[in-house]
Amino acid sequence: MDYTRLSDPNIITGRYMDSLLIEERLIGSVAAETETELFGERFSSPVMTPAFSHLPKYAGRELTGLEEYSAAAKELGILNFCGMMENDMFERIAASGAKTVRIVKPYADNGKVRDQLRFAEEAGAFGVGMDIDHIFGAEGYDVCVGELMAAQTQDMLASYVQSTRLPFFVKGVLSVRDAVKCAEIGAKAIIVSHHHGRMPYAVPPMMILPDIKKALADTDVKIIVDCGIATGSDVFKALALGADAAAVGRSMLPSLEQGGVQGVKDFISGVAKELAYVMSFTGFKTVSEIDSSVLHRTEFDL
Ligand SMILES: Cc1cc2nc3c(=O)[nH]c(=O)nc-3n(C[C@H](O)[C@H](O)[C@H](O)COP(=O)(O)O)c2cc1C
Repeated sequence: MDYTRLSDPNIITGRYMDSLLIEERLIGSVAAETETELFGERFSSPVMTPAFSHLPKYAGRELTGLEEYSAAAKELGILNFCGMMENDMFERIAASGAKTVRIVKPYADNGKVRDQLRFAEEAGAFGVGMDIDHIFGAEGYDVCVGELMAAQTQDMLASYVQSTRLPFFVKGVLSVRDAVKCAEIGAKAIIVSHHHGRMPYAVPPMMILPDIKKALADTDVKIIVDCGIATGSDVFKALALGADAAAVGRSMLPSLEQGGVQGVKDFISGVAKELAYVMSFTGFKTVSEIDSSVLHRTEFDL
């Protein structure tokens, strides 16, 4: 038995991302801008908040972490995400005024899925979606915070897409096969993610991203990436490999816990500033120009 082998996708993903190096293209380059257009809206950067759930009130403050990072997203002018929650919490998040995508769980109670999608639309959500990578658990279908999950067919997903006027986001796409199925049903975006490593040996999102990008080339499906994004350089690599945007995740938590709304604002604007810095160094003035020609894979161990 080789006890040095690893199955943790978080570690594998980090190693893959770190193996991507960036060349410099300085002559003729100018200072870059991170403004970006997605789904017909302008955002200050392609950096997004994560679809989080169940965050407490930190340090005795008045708002939960979910409401705090949503307020930060509003002030930053970026797209906001949220995850598993009841409708009353979503109403509070919507009240922050942030443009928010509500990711609904693949509940076995399909009535609950439909109720939460409908509620989100009525409460003014920017988009809705489902994390299809939270269907299975160790005993078959997962039980998440007491709620049983269920298998989701392509027809079921298609019916959610058709049930709403909002853009539909499928979160947890980690294959060309699923990406193509999402395009077929009219999803407006996919989030390429392994959901902080739910499956052993899950392929790093950035490794599969170019294949997914190629498969969706003739569609208008937007591609968002998460897992392990902590810096502007990480976001840059995701965009270079074909993503339209990237979401930070657990990397945001210390700033949220300690600094609340301001902490998240500082953290995410730092990520966006580093993105602009790397863009300037590589000769890409705008986000939509970034391509993979500046990336190199290391041939040595870091
Ligand atoms: C506290 C916590 C709660 C989360 N809740 C949800 C959720 O309800 N729905 C969802 O789709 N993802 C959820 N996620 C997963 C994140 O959206 C994201 O996919 C994951 O953390 C990977 O990104 P990271 O490596 O940058 O943390 C949660 C993650 C954390 C840490």
